[in-house]
Amino acid sequence: MGRLAVLISGRGSNLQALIDAIDAGKLDAEIVLVISDRAGALGLSRAQKAGIPAQVLLWEGEERRTQYFERMTELLQKAQVDLVILAGFMRLLSANLVRAFPQGIINIHPSLLPAFPGLRSQRQALEYGVKVAGCTVHFVDEGLDSGPIIVQKAVPVYDGDTEEILSERILVKEHEALPEAISLVLSKQWQIRGRRVICEY
Ligand code: GRF
Repeated sequence: MGRLAVLISGRGSNLQALIDAIDAGKLDAEIVLVISDRAGALGLSRAQKAGIPAQVLLWEGEERRTQYFERMTELLQKAQVDLVILAGFMRLLSANLVRAFPQGIINIHPSLLPAFPGLRSQRQALEYGVKVAGCTVHFVDEGLDSGPIIVQKAVPVYDGDTEEILSERILVKEHEALPEAISLVLSKQWQIRGRRVICEY
């Protein structure tokens, strides 16, 4: 059984999808720690309700970035986690933290990467005019929304879509993709070929 830490900044619907997948026996894992960089994050109450230890690690500004991520690395190492999941965590991790968990950090992003990295990807997709959008679960490397792709799921974009409607359609797929990707990674039956994670079963 894999030991997971989940990092959040807000709503925590992906965290909830993981809690539900574990409860339903679809994901053989345990969430041992939730960390939020914001005090009021809704995801914190989801963790609390599920009996998961949750901690606020308040962001203290760019100038304390190094110390912030050192502290986070300590917490994650102390919790002896196998995988760190970024589920709506809105900060770029330090290179040292990424190096402390080689192929051990996963991010969920609401676009079909490498298209539309960064913030408000769904709006970027609408503004560009694509007809297919989606989500990507990928390993985290030192770049922004880069790193080998584990799972992607696509959704159609319709003519009348707003940012909100498209985001909601993608979110449904995010909630499927994240537990799926974690199961694959925990199975250890994969390898990285180029920019893809290849499933070996
Ligand atoms: C999701 O769209 C995720 O892809 C992005 O941030 C959002 C987080 O949503 N990185 P939630 O907090 O999991 O509900």
